[in-house]
Amino acid sequence: MDVKVVELTPADKVVDLPSIIKTEKMGTHLILVGLFAICSLSFGQVSSECNQSLQKNIDFPGTDITFLYSPDVEHCQQLCTQHSSCQFFTFIRADWTRDNRHFYCYVKSTPSGKPNVQTPLLGVTSGFSLKGCTPHAQPCLSQVYQNLNFPGADYRTLFTADYEECQRACTKDPACQSFTHTNGLYAEEKIRYNCYLKFGWSLPRPTIIERKAGVISGFSHNTQMTETFDTACQGILFQNTDIPRNDIQKVLAVSAEHCQILCSAHPQCTYFSFVSNGFDCFLKKANEMVISAKKGVTSGLPARFCQLNNSWAKVTHKEVSFRGSDMRYELMDNAEACQKTCVEDPYCQFFDYVTENFFDHHYWRHCYLKRVITMPTPPKVSKVANVVSGFALRSCVQKATPIPPTDDEI
Ligand SMILES: *[C@@H]1O[C@H](CO)[C@@H](O)[C@H](O)[C@H]1NC(C)=O
Ligand SMILES: *[C@@H]1O[C@H](CO)[C@@H](O)[C@H](O)[C@H]1NC(C)=O
Repeated sequence: MDVKVVELTPADKVVDLPSIIKTEKMGTHLILVGLFAICSLSFGQVSSECNQSLQKNIDFPGTDITFLYSPDVEHCQQLCTQHSSCQFFTFIRADWTRDNRHFYCYVKSTPSGKPNVQTPLLGVTSGFSLKGCTPHAQPCLSQVYQNLNFPGADYRTLFTADYEECQRACTKDPACQSFTHTNGLYAEEKIRYNCYLKFGWSLPRPTIIERKAGVISGFSHNTQMTETFDTACQGILFQNTDIPRNDIQKVLAVSAEHCQILCSAHPQCTYFSFVSNGFDCFLKKANEMVISAKKGVTSGLPARFCQLNNSWAKVTHKEVSFRGSDMRYELMDNAEACQKTCVEDPYCQFFDYVTENFFDHHYWRHCYLKRVITMPTPPKVSKVANVVSGFALRSCVQKATPIPPTDDEI
């Protein structure tokens, strides 16, 4: 066994790694890739079987897509499951001693869907995506983490007697994804019993929105609402109007209505400006609103306690691509069929359909079904004494209370 290869992974150094594996495993590796490429229907459509087993102290080295922070291996496995293309993962546990990369969740894939190699490595746990196990679209994350801090993304702080109350405060607030609570023994006296509520996007957001001739994109209207209200509202948009400055975050949106939904979901957004040329949605925060006329910019106010008209999610966008985040593709006759397929697939959040106006005929009629991670993720994870961190329990409500689910719940 070559221990040096083991020691290199999993790593930010991972870039070096594939070449090392290749030189050693060239023969078998290449043959395997070739075989699976022929067997699987098409790229990105490798059927995943259900393997829930966790491999303690085993590394699946290399082939990283990215890494995300995660407090434990079960959470990491859920991240992999929600990631559009993750097939397996390696998680660096708290007891890892080689460097400071604790709580890194490396999400990974290979053309075969299986790790190229599995090697012993102390302090890591590896496993597989649960995509093949019919996972819950929004898993219940009821675990709390003693002596783990989730630093960052704070939008509100309050004092609570215990972490349970902090968790309830988080669960009740739709903007809250995770929390950290300091107990009565916390080192810094002034901030004992503090409850930090942390924001995270639970709306599916395309990571790239760009103009592309011959492509039609759109959303699954099922996934756009995290909350439902009885009271309908239209909201308010100011056409050809800019509200300069006071930006808190720039995000991507496909339309002013989409930007309005994002502002409404952000706990600090007081109003927004959407620049259609570039799909830039500027979320803003201020106590005053100074407007100015500007062509191509639509501004507006959030709508927080009512049901915004979601017809925006049903319209498709010609010459627009939501590039990346592909789960798989299927061949379809038109964009309507593609949208219907996305709406009917509980994991699909948005799609691209390639028409015959696209320059490369190899991609014609491809319907790309897409998704991003929407489950709660900590902004970061670190070890700190006398704190407890955890997640909102909104997706656990159905299990925790005896109220039968209503028809309109997904
Ligand atoms: C799951 O994966 C592990 C590691 O590759 C393997 O040893 C085990 O046999 C697999 N289990 C099933 C049920 O396929
Ligand atoms: C939602 O908006 C669309 C288009 O603006 C409109 O046709 C429709 O009547 C609205 N629906 C409701 C319930 O207000």
